[in-house]
Amino acid sequence: MKPISDQIKEKPWKGWILFLGTIIIVFFLGLLASSIIERRAEAVFAYTPKIEHSQWEPRNDVWGENFPRQFNRFLQTEDQSFKSKHLGSTHRDMLEEDPRLVVLWAGYGFAKEYNQGKGHEHAIDDMRKILRTGAPVDGKKSPMPNTCWTCKSPDVPRMMQQMGVAEFYKGSWETLGAEIVNNIGCADCHDAQNMNLRISRPALVEAYERMGADINTVSHQDMRKLTCAQCHVEYYFKGDGKYLTFPWDKGISVEAMEEYYDENNIKDWTHTISKAPMLKAQHPDYELFQTGIHAQRGLACADCHMPYINEGGQKFTDHKIQSPLNNIANTCQICHREETSELLANVYERQDKIKQNRDKLEELLVSAHVEAGKAWELGAQENQMTSILQDIRHAQWRWDFVAASHGGSFHSPIESARIISTGITIAQEARLKLARVLASLNYNQEVPYPDIDTKAKAQKFIGLDIEKLNSDKEKFMFKVVPEWDAEAKKREKAYETKNL
Ligand code: HEC
Ligand code: HEC
Ligand code: HEC
Ligand code: HEC
Repeated sequence: MKPISDQIKEKPWKGWILFLGTIIIVFFLGLLASSIIERRAEAVFAYTPKIEHSQWEPRNDVWGENFPRQFNRFLQTEDQSFKSKHLGSTHRDMLEEDPRLVVLWAGYGFAKEYNQGKGHEHAIDDMRKILRTGAPVDGKKSPMPNTCWTCKSPDVPRMMQQMGVAEFYKGSWETLGAEIVNNIGCADCHDAQNMNLRISRPALVEAYERMGADINTVSHQDMRKLTCAQCHVEYYFKGDGKYLTFPWDKGISVEAMEEYYDENNIKDWTHTISKAPMLKAQHPDYELFQTGIHAQRGLACADCHMPYINEGGQKFTDHKIQSPLNNIANTCQICHREETSELLANVYERQDKIKQNRDKLEELLVSAHVEAGKAWELGAQENQMTSILQDIRHAQWRWDFVAASHGGSFHSPIESARIISTGITIAQEARLKLARVLASLNYNQEVPYPDIDTKAKAQKFIGLDIEKLNSDKEKFMFKVVPEWDAEAKKREKAYETKNL
């Protein structure tokens, strides 16, 4: 027989038959492959539930009986070993790493203690231990309201069902200490009936309603980020009832939220040195992410923080929610062909560059607070200071928006850089005005920059008695926390589950 190429030269129709035949075979192979993949996906769901539990079951190990794979990975958010250049899961004392923060937050709880976020399995323990929640022992109250529990536990939706939402937020933090004991978990994101993603927190639903949108109609891909947006967002405690509210009525940009806060005369605290009416940004991760290229290309948080993984031939969603830099092969490299080292360098380059200007803005803000303090000391009048204090408020809000949005420098580097640069301009304006006020008070020198190169020095500078706070906290952890846990154990024994 002649070689195929010669046959085709003589009778070109043979070539066409070969070509079409190949296409048909490839088509059917494709169908086969897709059916195998579908079967695998079905296998994940074709589980036999072992246990039936209530819709608001807060114990993750109970849900875990039915979904051991997701549960086991979820438990690993306890892991504290990964540290990236700026973030990660280890304990990092941010005030020690950057003592300027203490001065920026003078008069506010964050100046006492502020740590880098860890995995979801630490939520309750970290909250009990942090100095900001105080030491409610021997009849003393915590300085924080129950609203603070909202993003920490699936006991929250359970209690909201039981008490009503507005009632839940009222009262000081220790009043629900024995009720809110399970770490962030399954009931926060899933419907127990069908395991569909669900929104369990009313603040997000209400924010959507006020924007004229219906959260029940969003796409599945949007749910893969809105479940996170229940907590990883900017919010404030509204009114005396401390009602958890997202300031999104005018939009979710830094300016739109600032305008909302200004118009509604909202301040989180008054700065003890400058007397400026301050705002504390929480963690606008979702809002800032929305302005970046990955959101614009349709990615959701889960694409990088909850990638698919394989175990025993089964593909499922990785519930070890963490920095994607600890898992580049299953996250970035699904879409990008670059080497791990190059992708890492891309992330660090963006973070480093934003941080460079963010640090500069911090320094300007420390100076502005201290200079305003000097002006008051020399007898400045209220009307001389009003616009300066408003500038300080706006500049620090912009700094905090970027600093507190933990992944923001990567999620949206251009918007982060823009926000910081507007903050720098405003802080400079404040300092120019301050120089004029100081001159009018016959003060024509530089106001010395404080010696705050350690956390201890900075806390002393703002007048915090940290030893007392620490010893009170120890007493609380020793006396009160075990009582809360014992009470919770007793209550949970009575929760109904049914073996199937
Ligand atoms: C912070 C939100 C969140 C929490 C908490 C959470 N999940 Fe999920 N879960 C998701 C997301 C997102 C997906 C992916 C859904 C999709 O893309 O269809 C998912 C998917 C699943 C699926 C579908 C199969 C799969 O692996 O894709 C199961 C089952 C599941 N989760 C079980 C659990 C269990 C059990 C817990 C508690 C131990 C839990 N989840 C906690 C967000 C969460
Ligand atoms: C119920 C509130 C809540 C929900 C829902 C939630 N988170 Fe979190 N998340 C937290 C809290 C609180 C922490 C900090 C815990 C700590 O430091 O103790 C955290 C920490 C993290 C961290 C840092 C982990 C580390 O190891 O450094 C990442 C990343 C994260 N969350 C991503 C997500 C993603 C992605 C989703 C959605 C799939 C999500 N979170 C849903 C409250 C929530
Ligand atoms: C394209 C991938 C990608 C997407 C999508 C994404 N992130 Fe991230 N995220 C990252 C990277 C990279 C970091 C930086 C991690 C580091 O420096 O260790 C990060 C950091 C974080 C952190 C801080 C982690 C830590 O270790 O403390 C949080 C919290 C976070 N992201 C939440 C979210 C939320 C919420 C969404 C959705 C609104 C989201 N991310 C979407 C890639 C992504
Ligand atoms: C699901 C797919 C997907 C995943 C996962 C993903 N990316 Fe991307 N990434 C994209 C797309 C799409 C773009 C936009 C570029 C384009 O459209 O050509 C992009 C853009 C980028 C850019 C350029 C954007 C800029 O700031 O200029 C960088 C850098 C990048 N990705 C890094 C990462 C890293 C690091 C990770 C993992 C943490 C990651 N990506 C995960 C799809 C993805």
